[in-house]
Amino acid sequence: MENLRTENRDGILVITIDRPRVLNALNAQTVGEIADAFHAARFDDAVKAVILTGAGEKAFVAGADISELAQATPMSGKATSEKGQRAFLAIERFPKPVIAAINGFALGGGCELALACHIRIASENAQLGLPEVTLGIIPGYGGTQRMARLLGKGKALELILTGDRIGAADAERIGLVNKVVPADQLMQTCEEFARRIMSRGPLAVTAAIEAVMSGSEMPFEEGQFLEATLFGLLCATEDTKEGMKAFTEKRAAEFRGK
Ligand code: COA
Repeated sequence: MENLRTENRDGILVITIDRPRVLNALNAQTVGEIADAFHAARFDDAVKAVILTGAGEKAFVAGADISELAQATPMSGKATSEKGQRAFLAIERFPKPVIAAINGFALGGGCELALACHIRIASENAQLGLPEVTLGIIPGYGGTQRMARLLGKGKALELILTGDRIGAADAERIGLVNKVVPADQLMQTCEEFARRIMSRGPLAVTAAIEAVMSGSEMPFEEGQFLEATLFGLLCATEDTKEGMKAFTEKRAAEFRGK
C-alpha cells in the first residue's frame, strides 16, 4: 500500500492515512487502499477492532484530493462518488467496531470518512466541516446523508450550506464527535474505547452494529424485526450462556466468539 500504514496492536488494527504533504487528502488510490484494507480486515480473525487516523499532527484527512477532483467530468465524477460511497458504506457496515481518531482537520471527504465510523474521538485541535459548497460541489461520499441522520436536517444543512468549519468542542456539543481529548491522549483514549468494547461479547457487538447501522435504515417495524431476529440468534450462542453464567457466578465473562 502506498498511502496507508497498518499496524495490528494486539487485536486493534490501526490504519493511518499517510499523505501528510497534502494533509492526507484522499485521492482515488487512497480510497481504493482504504476499501482493500477494510476488506482484508473483515475476514482477518486477528482483527477485533479498527482505529482510523491520519499521519502527522495537523490533519485526520483534509478532504478529497482537490487536484484530482479538478479533472473530473460528469461521468468520472459520478463514478468517483460511487466508489467512495461504496468504500465508506463498507466501513459503516463493518462487523467489528471502527473508531475514528480525529487528530486535526477532518474536512470534506475526511469528515465523511469519520461519519462512516461507529465512534468518533477528536483531539482538541480538530476542526470538522463539509466545505464542498465553497468549491462549487456537494459532499459526495455519503456526507449529505450521514450528517443529516446523525445531527438532524437543521444542523446538517447549517454545516453543509455554509461550508463552515467547527472546532472540536462545538462538534462534541452537537453530537458530531463522541468525545474530545488533548492531542497527546487521543490514541490512548481510542485504544481504551476499543479494548472496552473488545471485552464484551464479540458476537453481541457485531449484532448490535448490524441492528443499529442496518436496522435504522429500515422502516421501524422491520428494524425491530431485525433486532428480534439477532436477539434470538444470540440466545443460541455459547457466549450468551457464558455471559449469563458469569453474572450469576459474580465473575467476569470469558467470551470466545462462539
Ligand atoms: N486536496 C489536495 N491538496 C490539499 C488538500 C486537499 N483537500 N488540502 C490541503 N492540501 C494541500 C495544500 O494544497 C498544500 O499543498 P502545497 O504545500 O503544495 O501548497 C498542503 O496540503 C498544506 O495545506 P495548506 O493549505 O498550506 O495548509 P493550511 O494550514 O494553510 O490550511 C486547510 C489547512 C485544511 C484549511 C486547507 O488546506 C484547506 O482548506 N484544504 C482544503 C479543504 C477542503 O476544501 N476539503 C474538501 C475537498 S472536497
